[in-house]
Amino acid sequence: MKQPELNLAVFSPTGTSRKIGEAVASGICAAPVGIMDVTLVSLPGDTVVADDSVTVFAVPVYGGHVAPLALKRLEGLRARGAAAVAIAVYGNRAYENALTELGDFLSGRGFRVIAGGAFVGEHSYSNSAYSIAEGRPDASDLRCARELGERIRKKFDAAADIQCVGTVDLDGIEPPLQSPDAIRLFGEGAARLRNGGVPLPVAPVADAAVCIHCGFCAAHCPTGAIVEGDECNTAADRCIKCCACVKGCPVGARTYDTPFAALLAGLFAERKENVTAV
Ligand SMILES: Cc1cc2nc3c(=O)[nH]c(=O)nc-3n(C[C@H](O)[C@H](O)[C@H](O)COP(=O)(O)O)c2cc1C
Repeated sequence: MKQPELNLAVFSPTGTSRKIGEAVASGICAAPVGIMDVTLVSLPGDTVVADDSVTVFAVPVYGGHVAPLALKRLEGLRARGAAAVAIAVYGNRAYENALTELGDFLSGRGFRVIAGGAFVGEHSYSNSAYSIAEGRPDASDLRCARELGERIRKKFDAAADIQCVGTVDLDGIEPPLQSPDAIRLFGEGAARLRNGGVPLPVAPVADAAVCIHCGFCAAHCPTGAIVEGDECNTAADRCIKCCACVKGCPVGARTYDTPFAALLAGLFAERKENVTAV
């Protein structure tokens, strides 16, 4: 069959999901892709993709689920049997229900999920004191993502038309091995932090002595929790703690000092490999 039209749909506050999505897309086809980046804006209602297209979806995992705002922003998308690739990107702890959720969401919108995977990206909370999957996706992750794209292309090459390309069972993907101790200790540690009486930080903070009011954080906040000109304040009721403002600040003025960073860095230091199915 001829190459299908290729789209890339991403929600990616700190950029790791986007990198993985782009690498998968590059393995499918070298031609330019239609980009639907919903990090800052929702798709218009009733955006319908072409029937003979394939769309790579790459979204982050928050609390073992697909980042809720990603699904909200993609709500307007519809397909009539077009192909989709479901990619969940997580910070080396666990992706839990996220991949299944993404698959169900896409099926519910009329897509046929023909491939998928869970990839590791640097944890949004990773910092110089507590590194969690720092630097990922690295060259090996990106190679794995591109190879997934190449396997998808071969699947298309072998099919008479796009409607004949078989779907994949995302639930059948075996997650990376996880130490039961780490899971138990994380659960216990999280409960201690949540119920320990010490308030958890509700949003990143800015150091007014360092902030240069360049407006980067305001322009890149997915929820408008930071207003240009008033960058040292963050509206906690809007903040989703994605850390786009922390990781992107050109002068390092912003920090999100959560005790979860130490807990995660201590328990999930061992590298997890990516898992895929085509
Ligand atoms: C609020 C929040 C919750 C998260 N929950 C998880 C989680 O349950 N498991 C995990 O491994 N990583 C978790 N992460 C880490 C992100 O999934 C990971 O850093 C991802 O690469 C971020 O994607 P992005 O760069 O596209 O924003 C969480 C991050 C945030 C901000």
